[in-house]
Amino acid sequence: MSEQLHISDSASKAEKYEALIPQIEALTGSEKDLIANLANICAALHQTFGWLWTGFYLIKENELVLGPFQGPVACTRIRFGKGVCGTAWKDAKSILVPDVEQFPGHIACSSLSVAEIVIPVFENTGKVAGVLDIDSDRFNVLDETDVYYLEKISALVTTLLNN
Ligand code: SME
Repeated sequence: MSEQLHISDSASKAEKYEALIPQIEALTGSEKDLIANLANICAALHQTFGWLWTGFYLIKENELVLGPFQGPVACTRIRFGKGVCGTAWKDAKSILVPDVEQFPGHIACSSLSVAEIVIPVFENTGKVAGVLDIDSDRFNVLDETDVYYLEKISALVTTLLNN
């Protein structure tokens, strides 16, 4: 396919995800390189939704290490159980944080971030391989609809990890 996304500006959030997911599958389906695929997934999400920051952290040597992302420079390493990302890794569960001030231990990579979603990415054994992290500079943008679809994208990444 051509390297161009086709998403209607007037579509609802759910419609945008429904249109985006098959395009992500097409973009990544014939490429074996994990970093290339994660980079395009970040770009596709970031371009579609205009968040502050969109990226992956991957577990290496028992820490989350910054992977492909779009947005301002970010913290390079996050330890198990630390911040929203390290907590999502520890609990192996998605976390929606509507107001980062209300999340004890939140790591403020950017002072502009006010809300966040972190979705674990699993190996097909069920072990956490990393996280997908979304930061917003606006309140009331990130919600359960994002969690629902970002978990679908995380499941897609699981298939890419095993290529
Ligand atoms: N806020 C995250 C750190 C990563 S940055 O937002 C890119 C956390 O608390 O884990």
